[in-house]
Amino acid sequence: MSADETTRSILIVDDEASMIEFLQLLLQDEGFLVTAASSMTEARAQLKDNTFDLVLCDIMMPDGNGLDLLKEIKAADGRASVIMMTAYTSTKSAIEAMRLGAYQYVSKPFDVEELKVVVQKALEKTELVDENVYLRRELEQKYGFSNIIGRSRRMQEIFELIQRVAVTNSTVLLEGESGTGKELIARAIHYASPRSNRRFLSVNCGAMPETLLESELFGHERGAFTGAVRDKKGLFREASGGTLLLDEIGEMDPSMQVKLLRALQEKKVRRIGGHKEEPVDVRIIAATNQNLQEQIQLGTFREDLYYRINVIPIRLPALRERLEDIPILVDHFIKKYSNEMGIEPKRVSVDVMRQLEAYPWPGNVRELENVIERALALCSSDVLTTDDVPTQVLYGKSDRVTSIDLPAEGLDLEEYLESIRRQLMREALDRSRGVQTQAAELLGISFRSFRYYAKKLGLTGDSQSESEVGEDLEVRAAQS
Ligand SMILES: Nc1ncnc2c1ncn2[C@@H]1O[C@H](COP(=O)(O)OP(=O)(O)OP(=O)(O)O)[C@@H](O)[C@H]1O
Ligand SMILES: [Mg+2]
Repeated sequence: MSADETTRSILIVDDEASMIEFLQLLLQDEGFLVTAASSMTEARAQLKDNTFDLVLCDIMMPDGNGLDLLKEIKAADGRASVIMMTAYTSTKSAIEAMRLGAYQYVSKPFDVEELKVVVQKALEKTELVDENVYLRRELEQKYGFSNIIGRSRRMQEIFELIQRVAVTNSTVLLEGESGTGKELIARAIHYASPRSNRRFLSVNCGAMPETLLESELFGHERGAFTGAVRDKKGLFREASGGTLLLDEIGEMDPSMQVKLLRALQEKKVRRIGGHKEEPVDVRIIAATNQNLQEQIQLGTFREDLYYRINVIPIRLPALRERLEDIPILVDHFIKKYSNEMGIEPKRVSVDVMRQLEAYPWPGNVRELENVIERALALCSSDVLTTDDVPTQVLYGKSDRVTSIDLPAEGLDLEEYLESIRRQLMREALDRSRGVQTQAAELLGISFRSFRYYAKKLGLTGDSQSESEVGEDLEVRAAQS
């Protein structure tokens, strides 16, 4: 046993002066900070004013029973380890002491070496408690609900929903564009769930070829394939008792989808090269920025898997669908990054805020976060101005949303709409390399409608006569 960098403090509670003296010498010698109390009253006063890592407490005290002190310590915060001591070996009080949360029970006279070991072990236990509390707090702070910002009605509804689903074991499907906070929400669900003291693991299903993903998820046995030099546990088993986030599930290979479906249905997995299936207890959260319904239509996502994972669907709104959240998100990121950079939080000019609220944010909250971080790093005054914001945010029109201002002199709406139609159809044709069926699909219109307008707007040299198309009901509907 040796003294280390941080001096640990020990309280000795005993009414016998010679015992206090003996323990004090022994433990001070080991480098501990030792305090003594010769009565329960004195001990209580010490505990009230100081923090101890360990309490060595006699059971028979003149002014009470040491077990009561043990109870009080455990009820207060339970951080310190407690070793109970007694001159009489009584199984009953030993059992009672352990039941009340004592670390150990020792009888006098003690073997000095043995006592040293017990003290050391008890202190290690306290350290572990400290570490766990610290880690837990850090994680909870980082991933707790308080870190998900949003006062819009949509976000409030989501908060309410995730708090309700967190306590269940149900599979959650998070849908939302890139950067809308899917992973953030997945973690918050995990840390608010009874599984929070087990692991949260996440895997990007789109980033790996099928065989690699299979071994990543289900594990493999040594020698199962070339390169499998040792056994691999697989994420399902590693996350046992915890939560597994299957990210970008929409990009999962169809044959892997079959295997995943089977694992989810049976709640069992089989390693590659393994012969038996093993039961697993994992809560699944799936996330995607694709439209799975559409993928089912296209035949790239299995409908049965969709129904298996779509138990509790949560759709995260794009940032442009909840503009009222922008000011508090800006505020949140300013605090976060000023703190990280060790600078005073800055204000945002009215002008910048107006621009931030007008920009369509194709990259959603992630993009906003990056813009604020960058602005803080660049800004030398205490107010963020338009100089600190990238030009695409100031003047940018994303390719998803176009903001249209009505010119002062007015415009010809029909003509304007035709020009937009022409522009989008030309782009769709370019993108599908002239294949009209594909271009039509990109625009969500029928092939016939596409062909009709293409001709009308002079986009192709289509040979079909207008009268022929004109007879088509669908086209007439589109025209009206
Ligand atoms: N409501 C929110 N409040 C605070 N921060 C948020 C919020 N939503 C997202 N963020 C932050 O934005 C960034 C992107 O979030 P996250 O990684 O969860 O998005 P995602 O939906 O998983 O994106 P992708 O589809 O690209 O993986 C993270 O830094 C996250 O902390
Ligand atoms: Mg993500």
